[in-house]
Amino acid sequence: MSDSSKMDFLHEQRNKAQLGGGEQRIQAQHDRGRLTARERLDLLLDKGSFRETDMFVTHRTTDFGLDKRKYLGDSVVTGWGTIDGRLVYVFSQDFTVFGGSLGEVHSAKICKIMDMAMKNGAPVIGLNDSGGARIQEGVVSLGAYADIFLRNTLASGVVPQISAIMGPCAGGAVYSPALTDFIFMVRNSSYMFVTGPDVVKTVTHEDVTFEELGGADTHASTSGVCHYVAENEADCLYMIRVMLSYLPQNNMEDPPFVPTSDDRLRTEEALDNIIPEDPSKPYDMSEVIKMVVDDGIFLEVHENYAQNIVTCFGRLGGHSVGVIANQPGVLAGVLDINSSAKAGRFVRFCDSFNLPIITFVDVPGFLPGTGQEHGGIIRHGAKLLYAYCEATVPKITVITRKAYGGAYDVMSSKHIRGDLNFAWPSAELAVMGPEGAVNIIFRKEIAEAKDPDKRRQELVAEYREKFANPYIAASRGYIDDVIEPRYTRPRLINALEMLSNKRDSNPPKKHGNIPL
Ligand code: HXC
Repeated sequence: MSDSSKMDFLHEQRNKAQLGGGEQRIQAQHDRGRLTARERLDLLLDKGSFRETDMFVTHRTTDFGLDKRKYLGDSVVTGWGTIDGRLVYVFSQDFTVFGGSLGEVHSAKICKIMDMAMKNGAPVIGLNDSGGARIQEGVVSLGAYADIFLRNTLASGVVPQISAIMGPCAGGAVYSPALTDFIFMVRNSSYMFVTGPDVVKTVTHEDVTFEELGGADTHASTSGVCHYVAENEADCLYMIRVMLSYLPQNNMEDPPFVPTSDDRLRTEEALDNIIPEDPSKPYDMSEVIKMVVDDGIFLEVHENYAQNIVTCFGRLGGHSVGVIANQPGVLAGVLDINSSAKAGRFVRFCDSFNLPIITFVDVPGFLPGTGQEHGGIIRHGAKLLYAYCEATVPKITVITRKAYGGAYDVMSSKHIRGDLNFAWPSAELAVMGPEGAVNIIFRKEIAEAKDPDKRRQELVAEYREKFANPYIAASRGYIDDVIEPRYTRPRLINALEMLSNKRDSNPPKKHGNIPL
């Protein structure tokens, strides 16, 4: 072969690889309203930054006539590129080749870039669109999945791992995403299930659609498997870019500093009046967060799941923070099974990746009832408690109103290494709310009173006067300062700076045993 024909051969091979499973299947993918693996990477990465690995890899299977069906690169496109100039490793499964199914070489390609990501300390983003284990490869494809699961687990807490679900993902194709930090899905276009509707019908006789069983909204609001729902693929890929802007490249780095024109000393008078007179009235904690963070912008995680707690990324004075906040507007902001698990996982993510944790507290306690008790609120609530106890990043707490009972302890209290604990004058720190407390400790006195209702009200007022304030806690140093709500932003920014060189650690151990 002459030099020029060698070059022609290379270009020919490259063009062939670009076509994946062929034009017809690309058309079918477009007809389903979906982009191809390569089109997705084009949208995700900075223009022209993608460098592909293993374009010439082909599978080695001979059974079921597969030796006659080989595609350059097999069913996944892998490599690296940049997002806002920062290195990321990527894989994008190609549904046009064997339905994006995963066999030996598909897995080896992903493992290669994951190993590089770990060595070089950069995030891994997986764009998933796969029918699961390649059936024709049998147990080899199961082993191939396990190779990825192991790497997902070893990379957990070392580099951020983000999964986007861009099509139907079945079987093994859902477990790798489940081991990563965040899952993004696309409404009406992406599905996740261990077994699909047909198998469900056979085993349990239930009739269920793809959407009901494993659509984006199901996983975002019912199962909690999915953290973000995008309206379309472009939106999904854009949201991944936005999320990365809050995160460091790896656990040894700090998150990026993003300068802001928002005044560090900005005060918000509206915060002084946001707490309703009536303590049983709700307000929207998202408004508090919005008024405090840089430019009023934050990125909510798990927005549609366990809405009684808000978890989000934001910035204060240009520094990324993770915010956890009880939401009095939903179930009075109570802690229950789902909100504990949601917030516990978020706290652990922030702690893994050096994001200071800001906690806004307005919590009436844990949700009572057999549903919760039998569902294991003790075990699940302990997840959040454990996560806060274990976290060594800067932890700053603002109690806006209620901090009752065990939930006071859990929500980043001083006793579990809260670095700075502030309270607004409206804060109430007590074992329980005045009504509940009075009914228990004065049961006999109320029953024997001439006018039990009147006596109860008197006692409630007395209890409220004595306990429903931040000053008893402040007198003991459990609260470092009682602050005017309007100064919350400057106080938080100042606190973050004071804590910027914080060093704390846990006793040496193999790993703890978080209550799973
Ligand atoms: C090999 C597969 C495949 C698979 C799909 N294809 N899934 N090839 N192994 N797992 C191929 C099809 O043969 C077809 O090839 C092409 O991909 C497109 O598939 P269609 O069925 O035509 O597409 P669609 O109607 O959109 O349905 C997509 C789908 C469906 C919902 C994903 O294909 C499906 O149910 N696949 C099987 C899912 C599954 O049960 N996977 C195994 C899970 S077990 P052609 O040549 O026609 O283009 C598992 C165990 C791992 O993953 C456990 C680890 C913990």
